[in-house]
Amino acid sequence: MKQFTNVHDTGNLRAALDEAFEIKRDRFKYVDLGRNKTLMMVFFNSSLRTRLSTQKAAMNLGMNVIVLDIGQGAWKLETERGVIMDGNKPEHILEAIPVMGCYCDVIGIRAFARLEDRDLDYQETIINPFIELSGRPVFSMEAATRHPLQSFADLITIEEYKRTARPKVVMTWAPHPNALPQAVPNSFAEWMNETDYEFVITHPEGYELDATFVGKARVEYDQMKAFEGADFIYAKNWSAYSGDNYGKILSKDRNWTVSDRQMAVTNQAYFMHCLPVRRNMIVTDEVIESPQSIVIPEAANREISATVVLKRMLMG
Ligand code: CP
Repeated sequence: MKQFTNVHDTGNLRAALDEAFEIKRDRFKYVDLGRNKTLMMVFFNSSLRTRLSTQKAAMNLGMNVIVLDIGQGAWKLETERGVIMDGNKPEHILEAIPVMGCYCDVIGIRAFARLEDRDLDYQETIINPFIELSGRPVFSMEAATRHPLQSFADLITIEEYKRTARPKVVMTWAPHPNALPQAVPNSFAEWMNETDYEFVITHPEGYELDATFVGKARVEYDQMKAFEGADFIYAKNWSAYSGDNYGKILSKDRNWTVSDRQMAVTNQAYFMHCLPVRRNMIVTDEVIESPQSIVIPEAANREISATVVLKRMLMG
């Protein structure tokens, strides 16, 4: 595997899931694979789960790990071509990326959407140059438009907890005080569309995602109707994608906060969220602390998805 930025880089999902469950049974089975190999994790944005789970995955495979936090102890990097570099960014990614490639065997990148220019965000102007210029396999640790390690972990979790062959999975928008990218919901939708689950997306009008990611999902503006009979509720906030509203907050309506009221009409659904989560904005204390909440096993599966991806990159 040379790159991992979206579901299509994974190939057959059944095979990927089989590998995930093999790793889960013995996460050190391939500990010799990464001997004398180095993972470099480059963070343009903060992280808790991705940082820890990916580092742990590398350790499962016997790799060494270098972590670089851009802007904190590393030079700030210019990303635009053709600019006169007379500002506060002393190095250009065009030099920095090939240099980083000299010191490692695999590179992971976290670089969120800036939510200022939709075209630039959706062109993936940070991770794509790493793929072009590093000379190394590159994987996304959440880029501007997708978060595939999270989505793979989400899929593993649903497969573990599903009670029917074809569960109903509902992804719901929920309120948040800040404008957040669409990467997690885009990616979750992309992965769900590769399964045969019944997949529904619910959000207030104005929060439509890029049609490429919505795919064959049913979009339902009535959240209660969407939740009826659901087996899994996947909550997430995102900012607007459409037109001039790109990156804007259009609503903070707490009627959309996932609570016992909505969960009561589900098929005793499991509650999922990628974390970090804003309690009593996205979900009430009662729901996230209920036996139906599987946010911790979901986060634990981040180690598994990352181990599969790194193992595949080490195997070439
Ligand atoms: N879910 C997730 O990616 O968490 P972090 O932002 O903490 O890495």
